[in-house]
Amino acid sequence: MKQTTPAAASQQARNQDARTAREPVSRVQGPQQSDQAQAGPQSNPAPVQPDSLQGSQQGSQQDSPPPIIQVRNLEKTYSTARGALTLFQGLDLEIQAGEMVAIVGQSGAGKSTLLHILGALDAPTAGSVHCASVNVARLSERQAAEFRNREIGYVWQFHYLLPEFTARENVAMPLMARGLRKPEALEAAANWLREVGLEDRGDHRPGELSGGEQQRVALARALVNNPRLLLADEPTGDLDAATAGLVFDLIERLHATHGLTSILVTHNLDLAARCTRTLRLEAGRLETGRRVETGKQEARGPEAGRPESGRLEPGGRDGGTAAG
Ligand SMILES: Nc1ncnc2c1ncn2[C@@H]1O[C@H](COP(=O)(O)OP(=O)(O)OP(=O)(O)O)[C@@H](O)[C@H]1O
Ligand SMILES: [Mg+2]
Repeated sequence: MKQTTPAAASQQARNQDARTAREPVSRVQGPQQSDQAQAGPQSNPAPVQPDSLQGSQQGSQQDSPPPIIQVRNLEKTYSTARGALTLFQGLDLEIQAGEMVAIVGQSGAGKSTLLHILGALDAPTAGSVHCASVNVARLSERQAAEFRNREIGYVWQFHYLLPEFTARENVAMPLMARGLRKPEALEAAANWLREVGLEDRGDHRPGELSGGEQQRVALARALVNNPRLLLADEPTGDLDAATAGLVFDLIERLHATHGLTSILVTHNLDLAARCTRTLRLEAGRLETGRRVETGKQEARGPEAGRPESGRLEPGGRDGGTAAG
């Protein structure tokens, strides 16, 4: 069995961050807390300075707060062996603090790519992405890592828990990666496991948990650092319908109780319909969709979650803009 010293856990968490930008990274402590004293030099680069928002949302012309996410003129083009592949171009998006937004769309539409760009895991080809007042499109890799740790909790279709560590250690890892001592980190992790209803599973390794439990642990790990944003890429995609409904219930509750702004990519239109807003990414454009009832009334219960059992109709195109 591997030893689970704080140093080993911290290194493992850092390695995980460095290994691939698409794997989960969680933030450790709220920006108001004294991270400086607790964070190690590697995990606490110079803080990113907030950038001013651009365009009509700057200031508060109508006394409305600026959006927490403001995307302007976004382009993402991959160069591939067969030439340039442009996923979107001139894409605008605004999301207000407290919104729970679903992004739907066909496979390959670019949903994950968009989520990665919003969460500073991937860089756009052009455009600005103000996220929590920081233009994440301009961050260096080190700044982006610091930003992610501070502001964003990620959940993925697959839990990416580290198999050799217990549930409690997995949840504690983002805290230790930022320099919190192991006893305190484990205590905070235990509190979070209680919050997701798994206080009696703290000593279980991921392989000793059900799929739904693994995803609940992943949620606790994503939120242990009190991020402002929760970004979830098909968080229920690997679960049966009943379990997907329960995990979504939990996401909804955590979203509300922790004052989160949440963006969820999903293929499950019933679950998407429970969000405050649904955006459909199609042919490089974001359309605001409204749900068309299918006669099913059980969308809020555990039976919710049969993929594609609902239907979304475009609520109107506005030149690729999906401003809040
Ligand atoms: N690094 C890359 N280089 C080149 N093409 C890429 C790269 N990453 C993704 N793509 C392409 O970009 C397109 C969008 O990918 P993305 O993963 O964002 O789709 P998605 O909407 O999340 O799909 P799914 O619903 O299947 O997860 C795909 O056609 C994919 O092949
Ligand atoms: Mg995807």
